[in-house]
Amino acid sequence: MSHSLDKIDKGSLPRHIAIIMDGNGRWAKEKGEDRLYGHYHGVESVRNIVEGCAELGIEYLTLYAFSTENWDRPENEVAGLMELLVSTIRKEVETLNKNKIRLHVIGDMNMLPDYAKNELNEALEITKGNTGLNLIMALSYSGRWEIVNAVKDIARQVKEGRLSIEEIDQATVADFLCTKGYPDPELMIRTSGEFRISNFLLYQLAYAELYFTNVRWPDFRKENLYEAIIDFQGRERRFGKTGEQIAETNNSAQL
Ligand code: IPE
Ligand code: IPE
Ligand code: MG
Repeated sequence: MSHSLDKIDKGSLPRHIAIIMDGNGRWAKEKGEDRLYGHYHGVESVRNIVEGCAELGIEYLTLYAFSTENWDRPENEVAGLMELLVSTIRKEVETLNKNKIRLHVIGDMNMLPDYAKNELNEALEITKGNTGLNLIMALSYSGRWEIVNAVKDIARQVKEGRLSIEEIDQATVADFLCTKGYPDPELMIRTSGEFRISNFLLYQLAYAELYFTNVRWPDFRKENLYEAIIDFQGRERRFGKTGEQIAETNNSAQL
């Protein structure tokens, strides 16, 4: 059935895929249902895509599940999302372990209700020895929040004499972000037809290939992921160089 899976070059997979899981609300409304109904179905997609990434041997998958700005949504939606988060983690942690998946969280954990924080910490602890896919959940996360925090932490270190201004380079900055130690995403996918970043991984996406699809998140499945990866593999990543220079490097690499 999976024709597109055969078209993926297993030798040039992205190490890190990041996804803005968008469109749950619209998916539900189109079915005459409440927005939360869409979020519940979105969990099915999370399961399917996590499994798909683990099967392919992707090293890092970051899922944007809740932004700093999403706290301003109607109270019942926020509460429903928090409950869904906790119940999903409780249900899935065993499967994560079985599949050697290690859970990570990025974002402002202090904003989360205590019961959610506790559940998350437990899952982080239970999966911390796993060496397969790194599943990074962005929760109460926003890129600007992260950068402001990094600036404060760096300033503090300088003030305390533990870091000199001259030493600060791009690697220093990366070390003060929540994604310390993770490679930058090479591929960023956003579902549901919106062409924006919405405060996601602003620093880390500098050279990511962006892929947009109209498919709503609750309908997004492995097959859609494969299509995104195939599209990614067809692109020429130049990093500021010329196409000729890239061709030259590729040729010499093949010799
Ligand atoms: C994404 O779906 C999930 C979250 C932001 C939590 P939305 O809830 O944004 O769905 P739309 O964009 O309103 O359809
Ligand atoms: C981005 O989606 C955040 C998540 C998917 C968690 P939003 O639906 O909140 O983004 P905007 O409001 O359309 O930019
Ligand atoms: Mg949305």
